[in-house]
Amino acid sequence: KRFPLVGSTVIIMLPMSTRIHAVTAREVLDSRGTPTVEVEIRLSGEAAGRAAVPSGASTGTHEALELRDGDTRRYGGKGVRRAVAHVRGPIAKALKGFDASHQARLDARLLELDGTPNKARLGANALLGVSLAAAHAVAASRKLPLFRSLGGSGARVLPIPMMNIINGGAHANNTLDIQEFMIMPIGAGRFSEALRMGAEIFATLKQILKRAKQTTAVGDEGGFAPNLPSNEHAIRVVLQAIEQAGYTPGRHVMLALDCAATEWTAAPRSENGALPGVKTRETRYRFFKSAPTKAMPASTLVTLYQKWMSKYPLVSIEDGLGEDDWYGWRALTRALGSRGQLVGDDLFVTNVERLRRGIAERIANAILIKVNQIGTLTETLEAIALAKSAGYGTIISHRSGETEDVTIADLAVATNAGQIKTGSLSRSERVAKYNELLRIEETLGPRAVYAGTRWPLVRGR
Ligand code: PGA
Ligand code: ZN
Repeated sequence: KRFPLVGSTVIIMLPMSTRIHAVTAREVLDSRGTPTVEVEIRLSGEAAGRAAVPSGASTGTHEALELRDGDTRRYGGKGVRRAVAHVRGPIAKALKGFDASHQARLDARLLELDGTPNKARLGANALLGVSLAAAHAVAASRKLPLFRSLGGSGARVLPIPMMNIINGGAHANNTLDIQEFMIMPIGAGRFSEALRMGAEIFATLKQILKRAKQTTAVGDEGGFAPNLPSNEHAIRVVLQAIEQAGYTPGRHVMLALDCAATEWTAAPRSENGALPGVKTRETRYRFFKSAPTKAMPASTLVTLYQKWMSKYPLVSIEDGLGEDDWYGWRALTRALGSRGQLVGDDLFVTNVERLRRGIAERIANAILIKVNQIGTLTETLEAIALAKSAGYGTIISHRSGETEDVTIADLAVATNAGQIKTGSLSRSERVAKYNELLRIEETLGPRAVYAGTRWPLVRGR
């Protein structure tokens, strides 16, 4: 009588269902045709997850180490067979039976296995693939989309896309020094509308370039790569495209730049960014494509950005100065931090130690988050949490070398990051992330909030 089995449901518990049964990896290709690591994890409950690792071109010196084979007989030395072997060998062995639902513990185990400060032994590409594949497998075992599995029911903010519609710098073979000219459709009511606005502006820009007899071939991140007379000219062409598409710059659409100014650094620097043998702590920069002979101090760039922020609806500047120029960054933040978003990418490299220094010294007011700069999901989440607690803006970002993997779209919503940078409105490895965000918006239904409706996101410092 106390055990009325008849007519009741018998629940069979599967407590070990998130334990890791198998870990495997393979070499696949990224969007530049360069090898990268893909990892698959199967749990004992039969759920499985897969993740592919992105790769940068204008990488920061302080990033975690991307392990490449260096065997010039294959892929010009860029093979990743060693990283793959590390996953299939020591990592798979150590994680067998490990409960993947404890992401922080799993990532701590990966760090312990590697044992170096920058993941140089096993490779950040090996570690990141495992870390992300585990998160995907756990989401699958819970039968949840990744954004929900990671972020819970509070995850519902669709990010403002920062769409890189003109490519320059190290990402394109053209005359522009600035790496990324981006649009931010903040005037949309929903993410899907922001995406449409971006695509319309991109299509209009193509017509404008065509008419001007400029090339409409695209760069690494899917933006056009025209040979325009100057960086400022590119800003003006973008504004023209926004207007011709029927939108008002400064009201519907804002501008953002990624200068990637580490690439402009004129000479080797000492630790504090000074030139060897030079008393001043000012780093010198050189536009390496438009005017390769003319070096200028950081203060000249600060004045230039100031001018552009006054003249144009430019609200965000990423890596306006170099990765080790803390001195220049301090002046840059003092001059422009209250006027807009100053984003540290190469400067912070998704690293909590470097971000902590930036917060303490009042440098920048936003951080670019790239999972492969740091190499595990847990450390990525820590960097986001620290940034948010300090009132810094957070932008989840792709790399210039990407794959069809869309993890960062889910990560952006899981953390309510508010902004995502994932390229232009062409090339499927870019558009795949936008399409994932469309699916997420649909899943969330009326609960979805588009971050553009909460603009301005950044108060500055
Ligand atoms: P990368 O460029 O992926 O080539 O480093 C992206 C960026 O600088 O934001
Ligand atoms: Zn950048």
